[in-house]
Amino acid sequence: MSWRHLAVATEAVLRAGRIQRQRYGSGVPVEYKGEIDLVTEVDRACELAIVELLRSRYPGHDIVTEETDLARTGSRHVWFIDPLDGTTNFAHSYPMFCASVALAVDGEIVAGAVYDPVREELFTGEKGAGSHLNGRRLSVSTANELIRSLLITGFPYDLHERLAERLRLFNRVMGLARAVRRDGSAALDLCYVAAGRADGFWEEVLKPWDMHAGRLILCEAGGKATRLDGTPLGLGPDGIVATNGLIQAALVEALREEPSPALV
Ligand code: IPD
Ligand code: CA
Ligand code: CA
Repeated sequence: MSWRHLAVATEAVLRAGRIQRQRYGSGVPVEYKGEIDLVTEVDRACELAIVELLRSRYPGHDIVTEETDLARTGSRHVWFIDPLDGTTNFAHSYPMFCASVALAVDGEIVAGAVYDPVREELFTGEKGAGSHLNGRRLSVSTANELIRSLLITGFPYDLHERLAERLRLFNRVMGLARAVRRDGSAALDLCYVAAGRADGFWEEVLKPWDMHAGRLILCEAGGKATRLDGTPLGLGPDGIVATNGLIQAALVEALREEPSPALV
């Protein structure tokens, strides 16, 4: 039945995307959740649109969503919503943001949709049935060495408090890869690896709503996603290493607290 779930996830991100497109570039006022952690009325409007849709279709399912703490009932079905991933980009009219919706059943992610309204790109993934970009099947790249790889990363909002620590890993990987990008939307970053536009992505701390749809889409495109130390991801907040699979071990090794001397 997860194709039905995927259809609802898709409808949800398309609804949010319409709101984002209408308001994009219109100088939306920002509020502050932290010194550099923003939220706008567009985040909230997108969240409301998605929550209303999910509540109307699946009243018994639980919902975990970024801007509102909703009561959980212990349902086997849990939706993870990032109503606007890339809020900082959106607030600056930098065209890299999306909506992201994933469904977990019995602790396993089974469906995910990510929509970029600027490029009108809809990424979808369904457990066991592959992933698609606007209906076209996705598959990861074939790069098999870090030095031939384009990587993407991101930084959590505690960056200023932990600058040296965060930059240590960034500097190390910068010296090993062909190039590293920082695009500002973890959900799209993961979809770009799924689409073979990048070969790998890592981030030291992500929330569940940032990564669950994107990582299913990536894994269904033939890629791999683990915790920073290479062990399996769960459903909670975590660090992530996500690649085409071929460079997974090399990137995990590069990110190790004590990497082999050759990488230091
Ligand atoms: C953020 C983006 C960013 C990542 C941050 C996330 P938000 O999400 O995905 O790329 O580096 O860790 O929190 O706040 O724009 O939804
Ligand atoms: Ca996010
Ligand atoms: Ca967000």
